[in-house]
Amino acid sequence: MNIFRGVGEDPVYHPPVLDGRPREWPLDEWAEAPRDLGFADFARYQWRGLRMLKDPDTQAAYHDLLWEVRPRTVVELGVYSGGSLVWFRDLTRLMGIDCEVIGIDRDLSRCQIPPAEKSGITLYEADCAALETFEPLREAAHPLVFIDDAHSNTFNIMKWAVDHLLEQGDYFIIEDMIPYWNRYSPKLLAQYLAAFRDVLTMDMVYANASPQLDRGVFRRSATKE
Ligand SMILES: C[S@@+](CC[C@H](N)C(=O)[O-])C[C@H]1O[C@@H](n2cnc3c(N)ncnc32)[C@H](O)[C@@H]1O
Repeated sequence: MNIFRGVGEDPVYHPPVLDGRPREWPLDEWAEAPRDLGFADFARYQWRGLRMLKDPDTQAAYHDLLWEVRPRTVVELGVYSGGSLVWFRDLTRLMGIDCEVIGIDRDLSRCQIPPAEKSGITLYEADCAALETFEPLREAAHPLVFIDDAHSNTFNIMKWAVDHLLEQGDYFIIEDMIPYWNRYSPKLLAQYLAAFRDVLTMDMVYANASPQLDRGVFRRSATKE
């Protein structure tokens, strides 16, 4: 179930190469031009030359969420090529938000962020299976947006975040996986989510904004004790 769309051995962004089709299409054959370009869209999403595994609808939703929440910290589990971290950093800076972006991945060897582009970004090489990985986050500033894009130990991390990290108005977002979990284990998923009913609510605006965010955007509804 945890096979990620668009994640392969090569994290480097390459401009699209059409599969056996010319990029320059003759206008006297305009009506015959195929609509299917013969390559996967997802692999070509990029930010300033770094691959980013967030599709345009998801990018638009995050833009709106960042503007609304004005987070002082964005935590993303799952770095891969690092494009999304640079994008979060750049976008919050453009919005005038003083925000630290934290990326956690068990394999940072695929991260493509150039050294000169790392300001405002903190990287931890660690496994999400170990909850002690998250202890340093207790110092993080709020509002805080926590994104699970690694999909390992998700509900234990969510419980840890609710118990030790999230304050009222902070977000916990599960990208990509909710539709799969709902297809293959709907009862278990509903049961896991119901366990958070007193402390999290689903934000219906962002949880309906894109397939990647589908029913996976949760807001801390009460302050931690
Ligand atoms: C979908 S990619 C992240 C994409 C990135 N967030 C983006 O939007 O461009 C998933 C990443 O999760 C990492 N990952 C998978 N399991 C993990 C685990 N148990 N602990 C830490 N990282 C993990 C993988 O190494 C991979 O780089």
